[in-house]
Amino acid sequence: MTTFRAARGTRDLLPTETPRWTALERPADDLAARYGYQRIETPMLEQTGVFERGVGEVTDIVEKELFRIAPRTEEGESWSLRPEPTAGIVRAYVQHGMQTWPQPVKLAMTGPMFRYDRPQAGRYRQFWQFDIEAIGDPGPAIDAEIIELGTRFYADAGLTGVEVQLNTIGDPACRPAYIEVLTAWYRQRTAQLPAFELGRLERNPLRLLDSKDPSMVALNGHAPRITDHLCDACAQHFAAVQEHLHVLGVPFRVEPGLVRGLDYYTRTAFEFYIAGREGQQQALGGGGRYDGLVELLGGRPTPGIGFGIGLDRLILALDEQGVTPAVAVAPVAVVVGADPDDTVGRLRIATALRAAGIPARAELGRRKLGKQLEAAARDGAHFAVILGDELASGDVQVRDLPAGSQKVVPVSGLAREI
Ligand code: HAM
Repeated sequence: MTTFRAARGTRDLLPTETPRWTALERPADDLAARYGYQRIETPMLEQTGVFERGVGEVTDIVEKELFRIAPRTEEGESWSLRPEPTAGIVRAYVQHGMQTWPQPVKLAMTGPMFRYDRPQAGRYRQFWQFDIEAIGDPGPAIDAEIIELGTRFYADAGLTGVEVQLNTIGDPACRPAYIEVLTAWYRQRTAQLPAFELGRLERNPLRLLDSKDPSMVALNGHAPRITDHLCDACAQHFAAVQEHLHVLGVPFRVEPGLVRGLDYYTRTAFEFYIAGREGQQQALGGGGRYDGLVELLGGRPTPGIGFGIGLDRLILALDEQGVTPAVAVAPVAVVVGADPDDTVGRLRIATALRAAGIPARAELGRRKLGKQLEAAARDGAHFAVILGDELASGDVQVRDLPAGSQKVVPVSGLAREI
């Protein structure tokens, strides 16, 4: 017989793990709302062009990691699972005419993303992101506000030691000239470039800058820096973002090699790390400004900025720091009975308790009372509601399990008593 397993790089989140997720997803929603971000949901699949055009054709995400859906649809269109939410959200912004709404449009989403990458610890083919996007504000104040929001999310989750790495990658006014300088610099050193990086040099030279290949890391220390080639507007923007972060008390480190793996970025780029744990699989989250993306996807020129925080990696980091949120899943009350066959009586009382808002479970098996009480204690219930002879006069016994005390309570006042 074939036995089936979850697809490679994907995993089941079992009830033993899901409370960890709930403990992040709810605060993510609340925090986003507190900062004025409203929830949006976009489909998990989009026309492939949304990602090819939005994220960029010469990026790892599109070249190597896109989950393309085969066969092509009847309309002859090609579809892919979303590797990230920003392109789809911007597609929705354009499609629904959100440029006529009061700007900026501030949107939040938490959900699964898909990248066909080689799975390993902290890198999955299905992973979850908490994503924030503010579309229609050119910054720089909102850049700092968004970075501060990210750091607050980590702090609220109980994670310590998070460092913000910050850079700017210029804009269409200054980046092309910088890319020429950079390309020329690498061309003079082709002998030192690994074959793969040599292949990317002519197609997307910026990507070489954040190569994790050890020989490249050494080389890149000497590469020309974008911060020395910014136009005035980009330089002013970068300085103002830093000024705002200082005032908000958000520590950050300027990292000239930070270029991000997606092509839509302009100006502000940032990533979140545990200090000292930088590496390809170590980014806890990242984001930046994408002032050209709305136009690229068919809208009017509109600036935007956002971030994506990886929840899987956040949970790994919390585990490493020994932070386990206490999430109550135990029923408050378990309804048991002396007559094993009276499932109707037990179910009726549990139903009434639940209707009154009390987490309750009825013993639906037909085991003896002693066993039922043992199971209630094992569940971590606070109260056992025991149906016995008193039921004839409208009463039940309520046992406080941790205290070991017991008293008779009328059924009519049971919910209130509990
Ligand atoms: P990204 O840096 O590609 O940015 O992903 C954001 C975060 O998602 C990463 O820092 C990491 O924590 C997590 N992540 C990425 N790939 C994986 C994976 N294979 N397994 C587990 N976690 C992963 C974006 O996706 C942009 N959309 C962020 C953004 C929003 N920029 C502007 N707005």
